[in-house]
Amino acid sequence: MSILDSLTAAALAARENAHAPYSHFRVGAALEDSTGRVYTGCNVENATYGLTICAERVAVFKAMSEGARSFRRIAIAADTDALTPPCGACRQILWEFCGDVEILLVNLHGKTEIIQLKELLPRAFDASFL
Ligand code: THU
Repeated sequence: MSILDSLTAAALAARENAHAPYSHFRVGAALEDSTGRVYTGCNVENATYGLTICAERVAVFKAMSEGARSFRRIAIAADTDALTPPCGACRQILWEFCGDVEILLVNLHGKTEIIQLKELLPRAFDASFL
């Protein structure tokens, strides 16, 4: 199995753990670090709505908390015909910790697309401005 296939499978499997009783919109993510280790995440919703956290950020924070610091790509899985891209907040978090990372968007029907984060977040604000 290629790395893209296994990352896709990991994101789809993570999506199964989504806790989305309010939106019923289930998302999975799988983040590969520079050693090939994979950190997964799913969205976890909250009754306050605002405290909901997206699948991508769960994956990034899991990786950071495990000591990973360099990343190759992230796969994001959702059940939409038009492939679901990361939200604005997740784009900013991905830029902070992963830089111009490769993003693999997938759905449940095998549709895929690869896009660079820089295309989704041009002229990003980051520590270089501080
Ligand atoms: N969501 C994600 O987990 N990732 C995305 O890229 C888009 C949105 C979640 C947040 C919320 O639980 C639900 O999808 C609907 O917005």
